Amino acid sequence: MRLSSRAAGLAESQTLRLWSEVARLRAAGEKVVSLLEGEPDLPVAEPVLAAVQGALKSGATRYSQSAGLPELRAAIAKKLLEENGVPAAPEDVLVTNGAKQALYTALQALVGPGDEVLVPGPCWVTFPEAVNLAGAEPVLVPTKRGRPEPEAFARMLNARTRAIVLNSPNNPTGAVYTKEELEAIMELAGRRGLWIVSDEAYERLTYDGRAHVSPASLGPKAAERTVTVQTFSKSFSMTGFRVGYLAGPRAVVDAASRIQGHLTGNVCTFAQHGGLAALSLPAEDRETRRAAYEKRRDLAYGLGAGLFDCLEPQGGLFLWADARRHLKGDVPDTNALAKRFLERGKVAVLPGSACGAEGFLRISFSASEADIREGFARMERSL
Ligand SMILES: Cc1ncc(COP(=O)(O)O)c(C=O)c1O
Repeated sequence: MRLSSRAAGLAESQTLRLWSEVARLRAAGEKVVSLLEGEPDLPVAEPVLAAVQGALKSGATRYSQSAGLPELRAAIAKKLLEENGVPAAPEDVLVTNGAKQALYTALQALVGPGDEVLVPGPCWVTFPEAVNLAGAEPVLVPTKRGRPEPEAFARMLNARTRAIVLNSPNNPTGAVYTKEELEAIMELAGRRGLWIVSDEAYERLTYDGRAHVSPASLGPKAAERTVTVQTFSKSFSMTGFRVGYLAGPRAVVDAASRIQGHLTGNVCTFAQHGGLAALSLPAEDRETRRAAYEKRRDLAYGLGAGLFDCLEPQGGLFLWADARRHLKGDVPDTNALAKRFLERGKVAVLPGSACGAEGFLRISFSASEADIREGFARMERSL
């Protein structure tokens, strides 16, 4: 059977593949601890559930405007301006099926065959494949202990470079980029006429008093070249709702909206009502969630530092652990190490090769504190 070259060349998401393996083991009765996916486990806020139930009862079960419910686009534009300093009118916002589809659609709108897209590495598994799906070529730019370095970006630039994908707070390194780091990248992007696609899925999860800086907030010129991608998934535990959004220059949002019109039409109408309710939650909800993950970060970093060389996560939901000291004999790489952890210890983590960096493991701390403790104990016993 002949598949398209696009489909044949696409790598499966390693996270989803391992996740299926965890599901298979669990179905077979194994008690697996998963520190694999970045999926917040705190409950969805009651007003969000009530809004969805209310929307269902009042008949919000039909197609709705492809670009998103007008009242949700308006609430997102307000949030972007007030919380992130990103200038956006409701028409500059496109509601998407999660950040994942926002990213896909933005790249479809901005790049194509012959173009190169710079991505700081290590990176989230989906970035290179979303670039590939647009027909362009992903180019990983090395970072130093998770920090982006303008010289490294400059070295990778050529006449084909069209865009840079940024992700702060970062999956997998936990780095939260500073204003100065972002300004240096933006300066380069301005000089070379590059788009910035900024994935801010973990924007509300920053630790030790760090502030999240949206690249599009760095001034009018920055806003003109940046597409901001955010989501309800991580900030509000709404992963299954599949509601995210992008915002950016009107022409880009219009193009992305046309693509979405043919791709999916609207995002689930009643789920969007949940998003609307989430944006009206009181500030305590935000702080309670952030603080819970900061506590888990402390726990995971404390336990992880005993087994690996770890970067202290500044934000997000992952610990990036250098596991090279454990790679020897019949465990030559982190694929083998992750396999050993799953087979011997029934604990799942992601090998760093999935993020473009062999020798490391990505360990999620979005699980419960009990699971984090048990997960590290199992890893230690399996070594
Ligand atoms: C950096 C990053 N962006 C986006 C997503 C997906 O977000 P959503 O659930 O909104 O598609 C994830 C989740 O795994 C992520 O790590």
